[in-house]
Amino acid sequence: MLFEHELAWKDPAVYNEVYKNSIEHPEEFWNYHRHRLFPSECFNAAYNCVDRHAQANPDKTAIIWYGDEYCEYRRISYRQLQIMTQKIASELVRHNVKKGDSITIYAAICPESIAAMLACCRIGAMHNVIFSGFSAATLRERCEESKIVLTMSHASRNGRSMSPLKTVLEAVGSSKSVILLDHVDDFPIEDSCLSYENVNYYDNMFTLYTSGSTKAPKKICHCCGGYLLYTAMTFKNIFDVRENDVHFCTSDIGWITGHSYIVYAPLFFGLTTVIFQGVPTYPTVGRYWEIIEREKVTIFYSAPTAIRCLATVGGSQLDQYDFSSLRMLGSVGEPMDEAAWNWFFTHIGQGRCPIADTWWQTETGGIILAPLCNLEQKPGFASKPFFGIVPKIVNDELVIQEKNWPGLSVNFSREDGQCYHTGDKAMQDADGDIKILGRIDDVINVSGHRIGTSELESIINSLGEIEECAVVGVPHRIKGQTIFVFATTTTELNQSQKESVFQEMIARTREEIGAIAKPEKAAFVPALPKTRSGKIKRNILKTIGAREDINYDSADFSSIVNPECIQEIEKITRLSTIKV
Ligand code: WTA
Repeated sequence: MLFEHELAWKDPAVYNEVYKNSIEHPEEFWNYHRHRLFPSECFNAAYNCVDRHAQANPDKTAIIWYGDEYCEYRRISYRQLQIMTQKIASELVRHNVKKGDSITIYAAICPESIAAMLACCRIGAMHNVIFSGFSAATLRERCEESKIVLTMSHASRNGRSMSPLKTVLEAVGSSKSVILLDHVDDFPIEDSCLSYENVNYYDNMFTLYTSGSTKAPKKICHCCGGYLLYTAMTFKNIFDVRENDVHFCTSDIGWITGHSYIVYAPLFFGLTTVIFQGVPTYPTVGRYWEIIEREKVTIFYSAPTAIRCLATVGGSQLDQYDFSSLRMLGSVGEPMDEAAWNWFFTHIGQGRCPIADTWWQTETGGIILAPLCNLEQKPGFASKPFFGIVPKIVNDELVIQEKNWPGLSVNFSREDGQCYHTGDKAMQDADGDIKILGRIDDVINVSGHRIGTSELESIINSLGEIEECAVVGVPHRIKGQTIFVFATTTTELNQSQKESVFQEMIARTREEIGAIAKPEKAAFVPALPKTRSGKIKRNILKTIGAREDINYDSADFSSIVNPECIQEIEKITRLSTIKV
């Protein structure tokens, strides 16, 4: 049933027709698919993503889990996932959790934490997942409205053992009930949890904080029906999903990508979703590739930050892996520069797998722009709007004309007739394809010319010596701002090599964009500051480049995952900035 009615997006003419129809008759369009995907109007995710598959296909593998170490590996069938979900739901019910209550989940990515999300859905409670790398202080702030915190006593990542439970106790003390997910098997099942709570289309499903690349994180809420409908539709059409797909998304359940495309959309279609609790470089740089080969992964969805890192450290050993199972690749989280795109396409996709460079946000629930596959592939472009989405570029900013797509967060009113402002800078080419140029707040203004960070970064990243870079605008007496490049390199460079790489940056940007875009300062640094979800924190680099004081106590600063690199960057900037 689910795999019928293919929208044949592979044919541009069909895409155009379906798209046109979705824009001209949005209500009919979404209602049609709502009734097709939810014939009984049941919007409970525990039913849609677990129960019905447990009944039709109990032994099918729902989740394959890889831990931090090679030996850590588990497979969970749909039937087992259903039992886990019923058990955790029962424990919540015994703690008096009611429909609409908020439940915080603070645990590493593993079958239990996914089952915990689905257990909340089963009883109509709202989960609030906090990425397990956040500190006690952040956790405390973000779980304030929750009745209960679900956690685990151990987790290990990158060879380091942690105790999420310890952090939870530090954050909440005895002020909240804490349920441990270590021994879910021991929880008895309550009769009431064999089935699921009825939820309406507009009932709240979960809350989640944005990752805060330019501003302090904010709490976003999504509703049951609209969210599931939109994530299912986007997943099916953008990744050309088929029944036997093995889907591997390298995000974490702490982010929206993990919610939508690790958990809900893949399980909605009864696929096998592969999850990985470690980092791609531990114990070796081949972790992703080995998982792809062993599990015969068909769809691999990752992020530019991981791709750039692996292209640098793991390039030479790729021959030993078999990538023949792959059919589709995807990327999300930041603009994908052309160098990263080409590497991904050639080495992982073997020149035959299309790349879906998907643009979207925590607020949008699911993917908004994607190449809709076999339409012409353009490196660096997120390309086309999904059905029902009307993008426009107003003063360089990407805006969405109507706030009427089902996945939009409930934080926004749908009826005020105003556009949705994305906060991202974008451009549209003559074919109507859209390219994202970075956050509007990061745009650099040189003598009145507004330059998006990704235009420049893409050019600089294509230099062989550069692993990754970030460009920022720093104050300039005459031009307003001037361009400062912070870069990490693929190999150690001596001073004269740095000088010549800098000259090459200038030559290339001058040639490809123009003299206004040429960098005037560069610092070669050991690492770039990033958010926990892997986005470069350009605003901190801007502060450093401008020699201003950093506010180490701000919420903004606390969103950095590697604050230890900041002092080193400051020192290098002070002592060895290369200037024209
Ligand atoms: C950025 C992640 C360029 C963008 C799903 C957006 C991207 C922010 C892309 C949202 C992409 C995400 N190309 N930029 N394909 N995907 N972004 O809320 O700036 O964690 O506004 O959602 O990430 O990040 P969030």
